Amino acid sequence: NGKYTVTLIPGDGIGPEISQSVKDIYTAAGVPIQWEEVDVTPVLKGGKTVIPDPAIHSVRKNTVALKGPLATPIGKGHVSLNLTLRRTFNLFANVRPCVSIKGFKTAYDDVNTVLIRENTEGEYSGIEHEVVDGVVQSIKLITWDASERVARYAFHYAQTQGRSRVTAVHKANIMKMSDGMFLSACREVAKEFPDIKYDEDLLDRVCLQIVQNPRPYSDRVMVMPNLYGDILSDMCAGLIGGLGLTPSGNIGRDASIFEAVHGSAPDIAGRFVRGTRCPKIDTSATGKGLANPTALLLSSLMMLRHMGLNEHAMQIEKATLTTIAEGKHITGDLGGKASTKEYTTAIIEKL
Ligand code: IPM
Ligand code: MN
Repeated sequence: NGKYTVTLIPGDGIGPEISQSVKDIYTAAGVPIQWEEVDVTPVLKGGKTVIPDPAIHSVRKNTVALKGPLATPIGKGHVSLNLTLRRTFNLFANVRPCVSIKGFKTAYDDVNTVLIRENTEGEYSGIEHEVVDGVVQSIKLITWDASERVARYAFHYAQTQGRSRVTAVHKANIMKMSDGMFLSACREVAKEFPDIKYDEDLLDRVCLQIVQNPRPYSDRVMVMPNLYGDILSDMCAGLIGGLGLTPSGNIGRDASIFEAVHGSAPDIAGRFVRGTRCPKIDTSATGKGLANPTALLLSSLMMLRHMGLNEHAMQIEKATLTTIAEGKHITGDLGGKASTKEYTTAIIEKL
């Protein structure tokens, strides 16, 4: 019934429940998209766990997807499907804005920074082996091409989003070759953007500084290798109130997948906690109503802006932020008593 078709991966745990919130809000706001829901329960193919073909085809066809959390096994088990998706579609830049939310009190009310994380390699290359008993080697793979590509994206992002500075975050004092090359690539790209300031900072120093005073990091974009971005983005999320509030977008040339940064939260998920990525389940009947859909909703607004649907994004964003600021119908993690549904309804009433 809409102009655009978008792939929806509801995901595990609280995924179906928070996806339902987004769907309800979009219907109420008259957003001109229709959802194509796909199941990504991993299937075994040639000894490897892979994402089912229909899901792959859907993302490839629609080029835009919204994704709920997928449970990732720790230590043993299959490779995280989150990573498989990033790799399958070559989603090279992971964009994670971190902006204070009015009405939700944290130590600072003026956090406003954007992290851009290289999303395809580094320690996430998944190359590990046992050299001899008791000695294990994990390869951190850095290539010039991926470094240059994510750096160019970061500068382009700064230029188009009105941010004046790009900071490359690194540990080239230790990782002299890999991070050293990452920095060289950033410096080369910086020359193409003379109107954007460029500097470099050590990861540990950034951690120390930003928790003491996030203000100097406003109006800038920080770009960094994969694992640093994973860790630093969680820390920055903590500055604004946690993972329930932070959106993200995985950007590629041929497709982009927008997702909440948080996990599947099995502790508050209710009955569909296992093996129910199947979209046909009536999630409204099975959820516990404890989950906060804000991160997925804000991720979906990044998606709308990516698609050029800025007005709808603005309208929903305003309704959401007002609902949080008023504080009357917010979920437990934000200090309120509202259920997922009551919060969703409060947003819809403000549209
Ligand atoms: C994230 C997550 C993932 C990551 C996990 C779930 C594989 O923590 O998106 O930040 O480590 O990248
Ligand atoms: Mn993470």
